[in-house]
Amino acid sequence: MTDVRIAPWGEDDLELLRRLNQPAVRAHTGGPETDEQVFARHVRYTGGVADGQMYAIVLPDGVQAGSVGYWPRVWRDEPVYEMGWAVLPEFQGRGVATAAVRATVDAARARGGRRWAHAYPSVDNPPSNAVCRKAGFELLGPVDFEYPPGQLMRSNDWRLDLSAR
Ligand SMILES: CC(C)(COP(=O)(O)OP(=O)(O)OC[C@H]1O[C@@H](n2cnc3c(N)ncnc32)[C@H](O)[C@@H]1OP(=O)(O)O)[C@@H](O)C(=O)NCCC(=O)NCCS
Repeated sequence: MTDVRIAPWGEDDLELLRRLNQPAVRAHTGGPETDEQVFARHVRYTGGVADGQMYAIVLPDGVQAGSVGYWPRVWRDEPVYEMGWAVLPEFQGRGVATAAVRATVDAARARGGRRWAHAYPSVDNPPSNAVCRKAGFELLGPVDFEYPPGQLMRSNDWRLDLSAR
């Protein structure tokens, strides 16, 4: 299995977020953000997501490859965790996202806050749907999902039981 570690988002990770803010990475999540939006996102990640956590994905040689995390949301009247991830193009296709998502599932599971983790990749995003499947999520089916705020996208609703061992 690909060897990665996840490191809680820190002050020094703004540059990583800037590098992830490119068309190839944000094609399915509303496109690149402005410098101000990226900085605001970094401040949110650094200050700590209430009842959640963002991480930098770090390769064994210490190089940062992407971001991953979980945060609370209400889905169908139930409190759940939503998960999201992104890997820099030069590190894609070698299992980095799958390994990082597995590690993040373990962290959310250890926290013990909510039973279900969900992810909502666009139906047009085969790599991200593959990550869900490989990380052990169950496909519930397509839904209309609002992201970014005000915009509806056709997504797959994937779910993983954090209470299961
Ligand atoms: C989604 C993303 C994080 C995957 O990162 P990654 O490190 O390349 O993922 P992995 O290597 O762990 O797995 C990718 C899987 O997608 C598969 N895949 C890639 N392109 C594919 C395609 N066109 N059709 C089907 N499967 C595809 C790969 O074969 C691999 O599965 P396999 O190991 O079974 O072969 C990366 O593509 C990315 O950052 N995309 C942009 C951001 C994004 O869309 N984030 C998700 C928002 S929900």
